[in-house]
Amino acid sequence: MAKQDSVLLKNLSLLFLVILLFEAIQVGRASQLNQWESRIRLPSEKDDEPKELDEQQHGTRWAVLVAGSSGYGNYRHQADVCHAYQVLRKGGLKEENIVVFMYDDIAMHELNPRPGVIINNPQGPDVYAGVPKDYKEEHVTAANLYAVLLGNRNALSGGSGKVIDSKPNDRIFIYYSDHGGPGVLGMPNMPYLYAMDFLDVLKKKHAEGSYKEMVIYVEACESGSIFEGIMPKDLNIYVTTASNAQESSWGTYCPGMEPPSPPEFITCLGDLFSVAWMEDSETHNLKKETVEQQYQAVKERTSNFNSYVFGGSHVMEYGNTSMKPEKLYLYQGFDPATVNLPPNDLSPRTRMEVVNQRDADILFLWHMYKNSEDGSKKTQIVKQITETMRHRIHLDGSIDLIRKLLYGPAKGSAILKSVREPGLPLVDDWQCLKSMVRLFETHCGSLTQYGMKHMRAFANICNSGVSGASMEETCVARL
Ligand SMILES: *[C@@H]1O[C@H](CO)[C@@H](O)[C@H](O)[C@H]1NC(C)=O
Repeated sequence: MAKQDSVLLKNLSLLFLVILLFEAIQVGRASQLNQWESRIRLPSEKDDEPKELDEQQHGTRWAVLVAGSSGYGNYRHQADVCHAYQVLRKGGLKEENIVVFMYDDIAMHELNPRPGVIINNPQGPDVYAGVPKDYKEEHVTAANLYAVLLGNRNALSGGSGKVIDSKPNDRIFIYYSDHGGPGVLGMPNMPYLYAMDFLDVLKKKHAEGSYKEMVIYVEACESGSIFEGIMPKDLNIYVTTASNAQESSWGTYCPGMEPPSPPEFITCLGDLFSVAWMEDSETHNLKKETVEQQYQAVKERTSNFNSYVFGGSHVMEYGNTSMKPEKLYLYQGFDPATVNLPPNDLSPRTRMEVVNQRDADILFLWHMYKNSEDGSKKTQIVKQITETMRHRIHLDGSIDLIRKLLYGPAKGSAILKSVREPGLPLVDDWQCLKSMVRLFETHCGSLTQYGMKHMRAFANICNSGVSGASMEETCVARL
């Protein structure tokens, strides 16, 4: 393996070029998006429902917002979540009813050209001001998220202590933005969120009878795999995801792309599915727009108007789709300023240039390299890029070797890459999946953000009946 590595290292610069080329093909062409232009708002119509009456009728609206990453190269995930907070607050949700998970290393990051400010759109306003960082830094964990959802203060570790203390008549909105992989969502602190653990929490919450209905939006690579084949229809939960079980989700408003982030930014500002739903919510009357209408609009835009080849993904839905005729304000609230806006319009919009979530950090490093004038700084960045690439090659190589050792040189590739029929879960035994990952990490090092893409290989190792013992033997042998 060491020998193999050094050969590969020599070819790194070539590989880097290839990756950039690949990206250039993926981002494709697009023209300016003009949707941020403000619309004319007439103060004629009045919102006729007093707040108290609304609450009696519909219960309390709760929300959980999660940015599952950290680092300036992942600016966009925390920007998405801050923006979502502003949308919900404008909709009248109370701060005490919105729980925010974000690492909070962006606003004051040394690379942030606007200290103390986060934007989620090139022309957009600051979305950071006022956001409560309920769970930040080392407290952004899957365990805390579960405790918050279950309203279980005793299980919390750190943070503000805010939890979803919901009642039977209440509605809950969950929004998650991050990297992901088959069966997992990222967290800035290990371990990942595993689909089955998350689902167990939802089932428990349902069994407690502590909500009426729930809507969940997830942006991540392979986010469909979190629910595919395992999300029941009888939990009163409707889910929509940025991508299906086997494709990437996409960052947007990136430097040098169309539409670009402002020139002083070397990182992407948003993600395609995320900005699609939030910009839709901000430009419509949510007392009239339905969950279904937003789903359709977001699906259109996230597919990049059916030009998947230039980037874009298939928005999916799971759970109870009979909830879709409901009006969005039941979850996201209602901003009185939008009263005269249409319930929905699928106005033709232009395509957006996007970058694969997994290549966004390479793009970021490359822009950092390009922008840096200081020679020693440049060398440092090259080192960082080399390190990132080396780690990726190491991970890919380890998986490849394990495949060969387990199944022989001919067959393994098809087995590890095989994708199950839609409607079937990623893996039958989720505990097996976890323990395979644990074995790999023990012997081959941490999977990290990038390594999440190999989750399907581990799932297929489980599905093909390989035992923990032979996996361990293989992991040891490859050293
Ligand atoms: C799905 O939601 C609808 C609307 O709330 C409800 O009437 C129906 O019973 C739910 N379906 C299931 C299987 O729980």
